[in-house]
Amino acid sequence: MHFLIFLGSVRDSTPPNPPRLGLRVARACADQIEHDGAHSAEIIDPLDYDLGGIFKPHFAYPASRVPDDLDALAQRIQAADGYVMISPEYNHSMSPALAHLLNHFGSSLFSYKPSAIVSYSAGQWGGTRAAVAMRTFLSELGCLPVSAMIQIPRARDVLDEAGNVSDEAEAADWAAYFDRTFQQLFWWADATRQHRQKVDPHSLARPFRRDPSQRNAPG
Ligand SMILES: Cc1cc2nc3c(=O)[nH]c(=O)nc-3n(C[C@H](O)[C@H](O)[C@H](O)COP(=O)(O)O)c2cc1C
Repeated sequence: MHFLIFLGSVRDSTPPNPPRLGLRVARACADQIEHDGAHSAEIIDPLDYDLGGIFKPHFAYPASRVPDDLDALAQRIQAADGYVMISPEYNHSMSPALAHLLNHFGSSLFSYKPSAIVSYSAGQWGGTRAAVAMRTFLSELGCLPVSAMIQIPRARDVLDEAGNVSDEAEAADWAAYFDRTFQQLFWWADATRQHRQKVDPHSLARPFRRDPSQRNAPG
């Protein structure tokens, strides 16, 4: 199966040092997902997309005028079997860079597939508060998060820049910790893939096409 790993930081500020710990976290997740050769993973870096200025989501463009990079990402989201959502904690909340990137795409691209939440911090809490809030966001996006989560406190010390665990004596424990969440992700991804092939979920609950009031209760 194929998984997209969304990296949730565009930060280039120092302090706090060093800039952008998120890339090493994303690399660690990709290595773990791919380590036995059964699955593939692709890191989606918000820095690769020009999302400044006016906010115009993918679904707001006429089909012939969607920017190429947004459209290519939409197709990759639709084709993926599941998602890993990586966020640092900013002011006890999910990364605005991650939310902004995800907000560019309609939930029908993500829905009926699972996600895994990964958070990290420079300090001791590992982004737990952001991670708990992400459950609501990802559920609304339709890619329900699996129950296990990965939290990486002191990410700068735990992982080197390549995403390897810095202290070799701890590497097996970290691998087992990551694996618990990713095994849940694999199980759900396989189950939902099989069932999507059997029943097209979008033929039962139609995606919103017109405006958000289509969500509303009648009356
Ligand atoms: C605006 C801002 C707010 C932050 N808020 C928190 C926070 O609430 N909790 C926390 O543990 N760390 C917080 N941090 C520290 C981040 O965990 C740390 O900078 C981390 O490296 C951010 O991820 P990044 O390097 O990938 O951007 C904050 C950092 C910034 C820049």
